Amino acid sequence: MKNTLEILNLSKSFDEKKVLDQIQLKVQENEFLTLLGPSGCGKTTLLRILAGFETADEGEVLFNGEDLTRLAPYERPTNTVFQQYALFPHLNVFNNIAFGLKLKKMEKKRIEDKVSAILDLVNLSGYEDRRITSLSGGQQQRVSIARALVNEPKILLLDEPLAALDLKLRKKMQLELKNMQQQVGITFIYVTHDQEEALTMSDEVVVLNEGQIQQIGSPVEIYNEPKNSFVANFVGQSNILPGIMPRDFLVQVDGVALDCVDKGFQANEPVQVVIRPEDVEIDKNKGSFRGRVLSTVFKGIHYEMQLEINGRIWVSQSTKPWPEDMEIYVSIAPDNIHVMKGEDHA
Ligand SMILES: Nc1ncnc2c1ncn2[C@@H]1O[C@H](COP(=O)(O)OP(=O)(O)OP(=O)(O)O)[C@@H](O)[C@H]1O
Ligand SMILES: [Mg+2]
Repeated sequence: MKNTLEILNLSKSFDEKKVLDQIQLKVQENEFLTLLGPSGCGKTTLLRILAGFETADEGEVLFNGEDLTRLAPYERPTNTVFQQYALFPHLNVFNNIAFGLKLKKMEKKRIEDKVSAILDLVNLSGYEDRRITSLSGGQQQRVSIARALVNEPKILLLDEPLAALDLKLRKKMQLELKNMQQQVGITFIYVTHDQEEALTMSDEVVVLNEGQIQQIGSPVEIYNEPKNSFVANFVGQSNILPGIMPRDFLVQVDGVALDCVDKGFQANEPVQVVIRPEDVEIDKNKGSFRGRVLSTVFKGIHYEMQLEINGRIWVSQSTKPWPEDMEIYVSIAPDNIHVMKGEDHA
């Protein structure tokens, strides 16, 4: 496969503290891959190692089989968009974007053509002469993306590029960035701690915690089949309940047997059962579990209910509110039950 980036056994410590631990990862050409994890889990450090601003203690980074480890940032097939836009405030939009091309001594007309094409791509045509300080946050971010893209890197590294924007603009830019990536057809490695952003934009999501990869998968896989309770909790909200598997396709939670679609466990193996709040079905008259509504809160697009069931708190989301204190029944469809191994890495 062309333009494949491979990260092999990569580790890094700061002051004896392991920040990245045996990272193994393969990124294919044209892929939109997101590194998702909480603050301090090592996302920026990994990105900086890929860009060549930081060196790993162990491991290799290969591009098309060639070791990048000893190459300087400018010799690598990567370009980086930082969280702080790092634009030149004294230069206008055109000169900010053209900066790298001028360093390469590209001919004037070609630079103009390229800058104009890239401004079109980021929806800033006509902004050539504007001062950076006169632009909004979203516009500045577009300039920094344009400045990285104009160099035609094989891989664009983006470190929380939308974090400083307000929610509405962030959502708009998420879609725009995804479109840009598809138009230019290059690999994006995107860092965020925002799970919704990761699920919206990515082909592949890598969930990191404390320097270790927890799971690699498509957004749907990560959301629907979390590998451990860290992923289940970090990506979306979850009910995580202890259970046992009496046999294939049957799981027992608090003494209640539930049909499920999972198999391959030992008889009566202890497991953890993940149920998304939106999959908790409440009914007045019938269901697998008996419970009570503790609280009901309106969240804008749905109501969130806390339920007490067999002495545990469950979270449920529904477009229909249920009155507080009401006795209710709860059911879960078999394919909305996700069974994980009982042992827990998180
Ligand atoms: N140059 C450094 N010297 C010492 N410790 C560092 C250095 N850079 C990062 N660290 C530590 O390494 C850990 C990982 O940092 P990193 O910046 O990679 O996290 P992150 O996942 O990007 O977090 P955030 O979401 O807050 O940006 C943190 O504990 C941080 O304090
Ligand atoms: Mg960071």
